[in-house]
Amino acid sequence: MRPDATAWIGAALAIAVAQAAAAAPDPLPERQNELIYRLKQDCGSCHGLTMKGGLGPPLLPETLVDKPDDALVDVILDGVPGTPMPPWNFEISKVEAHWLVRQMKKGTIDDH
Ligand code: HEC
Repeated sequence: MRPDATAWIGAALAIAVAQAAAAAPDPLPERQNELIYRLKQDCGSCHGLTMKGGLGPPLLPETLVDKPDDALVDVILDGVPGTPMPPWNFEISKVEAHWLVRQMKKGTIDDH
């Protein structure tokens, strides 16, 4: 393949990824506060108050960077059978789980 074609495909992919991220809606601001509170209290009891890990693994940008958002969202919603990670789909929606994953990957939990 010609080098310029590769660059073009790379640019097109980058735009597609940016658009996909922009299209994912954010929860309303009050709900964002609830979700962050929940993340620190409930999730923090296993993953550490500052997400550095405990019974559960750390949920930090550097540990999550290589994991696809969809896979992390599935873990949050469905839990991991046979481990202490419980399912949260009874109170966290898919849109909300995606938003939480974005916050964890950005490391912005403590900014809220
Ligand atoms: C009772 C303890 C516990 C609680 C509470 C808990 N987790 Fe977990 N979580 C775990 C464990 C243990 C694992 C590792 C599961 C495995 O072995 O795959 C895990 C895995 C994860 C993973 C996958 C991490 C990775 O690197 O693949 C994510 C994301 C996650 N939890 C998010 C959450 C969120 C968000 C909450 C709160 C809504 C939460 N967890 C609450 C114990 C917990």
